[in-house]
Amino acid sequence: MCGIVGYVGPQEALGVVLEGLRRLEYRGYDSAGVAVRVDSGELASAKKAGKLANLEKVLADEPLPPSTIGIGHTRWATHGGPTDRNAHPHLSADGRVAVIHNGIIENFAGLRAQCEARGVEFSSDTDTEVAAHLLAAAYDDLPAGPDRFAEAMRVVCRALEGAFTLVATHADEPDTVVAARRNSPLVVGVGETADGTPEYFLGSDVAAFIAHTREARELGQDQVVEIDRTRGLTVTDFSGAPAEPKAYTVDWDAAAAEKGGYDWFMLKEIAEQPQAIADTLLGRLGEHGELVLDEVRLSDQELRDIDKIFVVACGTAYHAGLIAKYAIEHWTRIPVEVEVASEFRYRDPVLDRSTLVIVISQSGETMDTLMALRHAKEQKARVLAICNANGSTIPRESDAVLYTHAGPEVAVASTKGFLTQIVACYLVGLFLAQVRGIKYEDEVAAMVADLQSLPGKVAEVLEQMEPVRELGRSLAGADTILFLGRHVAYPVALEGALKLKELAYIHAEGFAAGELKHGPIALIDQGTPVVVVVPSPRARESVHGKVVSNIQEVRARGARTIVIAEEGDDDVVPYADHIIRVPRTPTLLAPVVTTVPLQVLACEIADTRGYDVDQPRNLAKSVTVE
Ligand code: M6R
Repeated sequence: MCGIVGYVGPQEALGVVLEGLRRLEYRGYDSAGVAVRVDSGELASAKKAGKLANLEKVLADEPLPPSTIGIGHTRWATHGGPTDRNAHPHLSADGRVAVIHNGIIENFAGLRAQCEARGVEFSSDTDTEVAAHLLAAAYDDLPAGPDRFAEAMRVVCRALEGAFTLVATHADEPDTVVAARRNSPLVVGVGETADGTPEYFLGSDVAAFIAHTREARELGQDQVVEIDRTRGLTVTDFSGAPAEPKAYTVDWDAAAAEKGGYDWFMLKEIAEQPQAIADTLLGRLGEHGELVLDEVRLSDQELRDIDKIFVVACGTAYHAGLIAKYAIEHWTRIPVEVEVASEFRYRDPVLDRSTLVIVISQSGETMDTLMALRHAKEQKARVLAICNANGSTIPRESDAVLYTHAGPEVAVASTKGFLTQIVACYLVGLFLAQVRGIKYEDEVAAMVADLQSLPGKVAEVLEQMEPVRELGRSLAGADTILFLGRHVAYPVALEGALKLKELAYIHAEGFAAGELKHGPIALIDQGTPVVVVVPSPRARESVHGKVVSNIQEVRARGARTIVIAEEGDDDVVPYADHIIRVPRTPTLLAPVVTTVPLQVLACEIADTRGYDVDQPRNLAKSVTVE
């Protein structure tokens, strides 16, 4: 939510900043803006509502002067509508300080009133602008010196409440950009140009600078960072005590964050799923076939002591949690509750030392999930994160982490992030079963072998997607599409509906197929498309047969039935208007294959309707506000 870029180095700053913003645009696209500090000792800035392309047009007409220090922002609006005036950067009244911000400053109203009482006139409706005025005042109050700008930022941060990443440049600081973070993401990139000149980058995530360096520094909570042309990188806490940022090397490169010939990032990311699953499974097996999850920094005794599991997440990651419940309970016999993070946090859940809370987040920055994690830790529960983004806040604050190695996911709609989250949940479930002695090593090894067959099966599904795309084109005019599933296919139905809503803006709902007769069946009208995800015929207690009956029930009421079923499942044939086949897969693992056609379907429908598949309206990739 909001993309932030900062640069200090020998290169032309505007180009570096705009390139970073292009890679971060998935974080928000309500407006974009840049500010540079020019050699004459002034700031120059430009900003425009709408996508980055709008700002680029403005800059083409009125170029900014050359500079080697710059900051840039792409916005997901919170306070103040998505207008030119509310676009970042925000300038202090004297125009000497420019600030960009991600997050929400909760006490901005009081601070704004204080500024106004001093005669400051505000030129936007944002919470952010207050930080620009406060920073200018704090800077003016401090004596000259090398630490003046960073100290001014610390003074401001001590006055702010809420969540913020702030990045600022000052007309009187020719070599320095300062930034701060509390509850919102910020990473530092450290690189050098071909002639060995050092350069420093700031970004909401590493995509901001991946074209220049893979060397990153992770910042902690409540820290201020200064990047300076000669003094390099300095990190302190808000009181000024020095802090050491953690260094890491990003394990993917700029090419991984390009479209690579696909029309949409989402299509590329769907196609990458076999590899992403394989990478997530890589290196998890010991020499005797047992699971080895070294990153899970919980002792065997701690894992044996667990008597209850909560899975907490948002959106698509929550659906991965719902799937995890079936598998983890079945394999470990530990009770599992699954809850959306925004509800879990505020309802006083019963947690203690023997509770394991699994938080799932692709970005590692989702604020609802982060707050749930903190609440769980306050209650002394153990927290295990399943996360894709290395160095992000959620894994850093968790007791343990299992990374999904999906690589960068740029499209707002999660695809490979989702499938790898499911796979990581399976690994956790099997690992718990192994450590607690509920499954023998050879049983675990057999199931891991099943997991290892998943990349091939997903690849098989992907090869057969042309009829699904054709079907998508024929459904593009639909007003409502319903999704049904039962057992482990129920969360898949929810995910299919979410994908369609967020991409194609079509009313879509997912239901547990058994619930249909308790009300939702009234929605079925002549021709209503109903997508049914059919569990394997080998699923428990004839749930398959019951779903076949559900297909008949909706068809008898006029539904156009689109059925996703295993190869060889002939029971569905008489009642399906369209059949999408998936390979035979063990029941609990089937969501990994049955989800794929739903992703393709949503993507095709949205594309046919002429929508931006990668950046759907009103959304942002990583939701860093509560
Ligand atoms: O980064 P996270 O996994 O924590 O994100 C959670 C949700 O915001 C995310 O899955 C969202 O629902 C996606 N846009 C769905 O495609």
